[in-house]
Amino acid sequence: MNSLPRAVRILAEGIVIIDQTKLPEREVWLSLTTVDAVIDAIARLAVRGAPAIGVAGAGAVWLAALETPDDGFETRFRRTCERIADARPTAINLRFAVERSRDIALLAKSPDDARVRAREAAESLLEQESAASRAMGRWGSSLIAHGERVLTYCNTGWLATTGDGTALSAVYAAHNEGKNIEVFACESRPLLQGARLTAWEMVRAEIPVTLLCDNSVGLLMARGGVDRVLVGADRIARNGDTANKIGTYMVAVLAKRHGIPFHVVAPTTTFDRRIKDGRGIPIEERDESEVLTLRGVPVAAPGARAFAPAFDVTPAELITSIVTERGIIKDVDESGISAVVP
Ligand code: MRU
Repeated sequence: MNSLPRAVRILAEGIVIIDQTKLPEREVWLSLTTVDAVIDAIARLAVRGAPAIGVAGAGAVWLAALETPDDGFETRFRRTCERIADARPTAINLRFAVERSRDIALLAKSPDDARVRAREAAESLLEQESAASRAMGRWGSSLIAHGERVLTYCNTGWLATTGDGTALSAVYAAHNEGKNIEVFACESRPLLQGARLTAWEMVRAEIPVTLLCDNSVGLLMARGGVDRVLVGADRIARNGDTANKIGTYMVAVLAKRHGIPFHVVAPTTTFDRRIKDGRGIPIEERDESEVLTLRGVPVAAPGARAFAPAFDVTPAELITSIVTERGIIKDVDESGISAVVP
């Protein structure tokens, strides 16, 4: 397989992303040259996936440093960084990336120096996430046997990171190793990241993929059609409770019921050591229109309300292991996690 494209790049004029709202119909690349353009792209999911929005956020911090006048630099710069970090609340990668870049920039002796440092911080995070993605692919693939049928949720591929992905990085690695695997992609309502993005990535890479409605997982598992579940994460608490795309919890419960291994694949930048358990993870609520419509077309009786959480939390007890770039956490509890992510 040829090397995969990079969903987020940092160029001289700004940040270049693939607009994920246009996929799979059209492949549109956007050049984002202002802080507001990046915040808007993150909020409307033009760039999405925890590691990808972390890197985009770090890029926005660089743009913030460029846009902030020398007069009152630190106060204004800090304020803009807060706006970037608040663009989406659940994926901790975004807040960590923004705070890290901000703090590196503010070690500078002058605003000009801060601008240089902010750019270097964004570039180094991008490299770090790409390397993490490669390592997760290797570790994750070591779990997958020849001929396995792997079920996945949402999109965790190159679109969601700056490398080959998280859970899908393992799928790409297993495929490249000739393991003859097959992917089952849940459509991931309401915004269909599985149908629009994961199926598109798999088809492009010539990896056999079957799409299923989220409510078909139980039947498929009951018929013995799934060997392993691999998903990504937006935030992992100290005890291993994991926030990921809404519906992931439902899949984890079903996997437990059917004795199917359920793995989370996430870089160490997704672990939130400040939060004891899943109850502390903020769950993003999206606009009701995302449930009441399907790609802009109304699907509900006029006047109906909608419940539109973007994420749910899978309790640690349902997770077989967590794959990170540093290795596989087999004991998904506070001490097992601390040994790999101190
Ligand atoms: O709302 P999204 O599309 O940004 O949600 C993304 C997910 O839930 C992914 O599974 C998660 O970010 C981990 S994959 C890199």
